[in-house]
Amino acid sequence: MHILSTLAFTLLPLLPLTHAIGSAVVQNNCTDPVYLWSVGGSIGPRQTIAPGSSYSETFHRDATSGGISLKITKTPNGLFDGSAQTNYAYTLNTDTNTVFYDLSDVFGDPFSGSALSVVPSDSGCGSICWANGVPPAGSQVKSCQANSNEVLTLCATSC
Ligand SMILES: *[C@@H]1O[C@H](CO)[C@@H](O)[C@H](O)[C@H]1NC(C)=O
Repeated sequence: MHILSTLAFTLLPLLPLTHAIGSAVVQNNCTDPVYLWSVGGSIGPRQTIAPGSSYSETFHRDATSGGISLKITKTPNGLFDGSAQTNYAYTLNTDTNTVFYDLSDVFGDPFSGSALSVVPSDSGCGSICWANGVPPAGSQVKSCQANSNEVLTLCATSC
């Protein structure tokens, strides 16, 4: 313990002068599992999120695409079989220390009939909530400082 803390204090000043970076979190409050792929320039491995569980990744930039889209379906092969998909997209801008986030659907609305909410850990930043799981018209893009966590809850209790 002593050695570890000494090491931590020794190394701390060597860390680059960047701000802490937050996470995109997907909380599955539905009664069935959901499937998620983190997609940038390439497609990440399938993540299965059990009911009551969550998936989280630190905000980052993709070298090719810049932005990242967390693609969520209710079916195990959903990304590849044309299933309805909810896209929780974010773009980290390290120059301005800002993260932009957005929610959209393609090929249908997998979570229609229940609420979908994106709630930032900093309540001063914009949240997104679809009361019936169906996107409203118009742009949804919100932003927050990069050290915030933005939590998408599937089958949220309400908006
Ligand atoms: C998700 O479920 C947890 C556990 O039941 C609950 O505490 C939380 O309020 C729910 N979140 C939302 C946004 O409904």
